[in-house]
Amino acid sequence: MAEPTFKAPKGTRDILPPESARRRALIDAFAAQAELAGFGEIMSPIFEDLGVFKRLGESTDVVTKEMFDFFDKGEPPQHLALRPELTASVCRAFVEHRPTPPWKVWYEGPQFRYEQPQAGRYRQFSQVGVETLGTDDPQADIDVIALGWRFYASLGLREITLLLNSLGDPTCRPAYMAALRSHLSEHASSLSAQSQVTLERNPLRVLDSKRDEDAVVIAAAPLMVDFLTDDTREHFETVRSGLNQLGIPYQLSPRLVRGLDYYTRTTFEFAADALATAQNAVGGGGRYDGLVEDLGGPPTPGIGFALGVDRILLACDAEGVFDHPEPPVKVFVVDVTGGTHALGVCSTLRAAGIGADRAYGGRSMKAQMKVADRSGAPLAAIIGEDEVASGEVTLRDLRGDTGQERIALDSLVAAVQQRLS
Ligand code: HAM
Repeated sequence: MAEPTFKAPKGTRDILPPESARRRALIDAFAAQAELAGFGEIMSPIFEDLGVFKRLGESTDVVTKEMFDFFDKGEPPQHLALRPELTASVCRAFVEHRPTPPWKVWYEGPQFRYEQPQAGRYRQFSQVGVETLGTDDPQADIDVIALGWRFYASLGLREITLLLNSLGDPTCRPAYMAALRSHLSEHASSLSAQSQVTLERNPLRVLDSKRDEDAVVIAAAPLMVDFLTDDTREHFETVRSGLNQLGIPYQLSPRLVRGLDYYTRTTFEFAADALATAQNAVGGGGRYDGLVEDLGGPPTPGIGFALGVDRILLACDAEGVFDHPEPPVKVFVVDVTGGTHALGVCSTLRAAGIGADRAYGGRSMKAQMKVADRSGAPLAAIIGEDEVASGEVTLRDLRGDTGQERIALDSLVAAVQQRLS
C-alpha cells in the first residue's frame, strides 16, 4: 500500500473501534464512580489564555517546553494554549463562576503536551480526574485518593502502587528549600549536567531525576517530611490514618515530587507495576492550596487527581483485564432477496432496543454470512425467498453449532430476547 499523504500528527493517534468503545466504557465507569461520590461533571474549553497555564510553574517543562500555544486572530491577538492539564482550567472556572464551596467536579478529555513521543507518552493524551475546591479538610484528601484507588480496582487492575508524600506548605517550604539547595549546591559537581541546570531553576525537580549519576546525592538529600510544621504533619497523619481505615495500602515516598509546581501538602502518584518504569505513572494528584489565589480568586484550598486514560489501558493490557465491551450488535440480518426486507427487520429490532446490523450491496449468502461472523453478533436473522413467502425469518445462532429455527416475523423480537437472556 502506498504511504498516505497525510497521517495523524506526531505524538497523536486515531483511536479506532473497538478500542474506542473500550475507552468510552472506561470513561463511563469513571463518571459513574465520581458521581456516586458527589462530583458533577465540568466541561471546560480545550484552550485557555496562556496565562492560566503559566501558573503551573514558570520553571516546569510543561510550561517552558511543552505548551502548544498560539495567537488568535483578534485585535490585539490573544495568546492562547491548548490545555496541558485541567486543574488550572477548573480553578479558572471557579474564580469566574464562584460556585459555593466545597465544589466537587470531575472531568475527562484530551490534554496536549509537546513531549518526545514514546510508548505511553503522547502529545495528545486523555485524562479523567476530579477536583475538590474550597476545603482543606484532610477527609477530602482521603476521599479523593480512595476514589482513584477504587477506580483502578474496579477495572480489575491489581498491580497498582499508591505513592504518598507531603510537600509541606508555604510556612515550612522555605526552610526545606534552603536546606535542599544548600545540599545540592554543595554536591553539584557530582550531579549530572542536566541536574546542575535543573538545580538553578528548581531544586525540587532534581529529586525526580532517574539518572544514575544523581542517585547518591539524591539519596542523601534532606527530606520535606523532616521539615513539616505541626499543622502540616497532623494533616498528613490524618490522611494516612484515613487510608489505613479504608484498607488502602500506600508507600511513603518522601522524594516524590510532581512535574507541576502548584502542589502543597498531600501529593500522590499511582504507579502501574505492570508497565516499564519510565511511563508507569498512571495517575497523580495532590493539594494545590494556592492556585485559585494565584489565578486571581479568594484563598481557596484544593485537592484532586488526574489519571492517564492511555496508560491505564496499557496497564489493563499488561494485566489482561478490562477487555473490550461486548459488541452492541446482537443480530446480523442477512437478506438475500435484495436488501429491502433487512431494512424492516433491522428497524424492528433496533426499535425494541436490540442492536442490529446488515450487509449492503446485495451480496451472496456466503459473503453476507462472513460479514455476520466478523461482526461478533451472536445471532443471524436470515431472509431468503422462502422466508419472505411464509412471513418468517431463519434465526441462526452464531456462537458455535447451536442450530437454527424458523420464526414468524412478529415473534422475532421475543425469540431474540429469549436467545440472548
Ligand atoms: P500529571 O502527573 O501531569 O498531573 O498527569 C496525570 C497523568 O496523566 C499522569 O500520571 C499520566 O498517567 C498522564 N499523562 C501525563 N502526560 C502524559 C503524556 N504525555 N502521555 C500520556 N499520558 C500522560 C496532572 O495533570 C495534574 N493536573 C493532576 C492533578 C489534578 N493534580 C491535582 N489535581
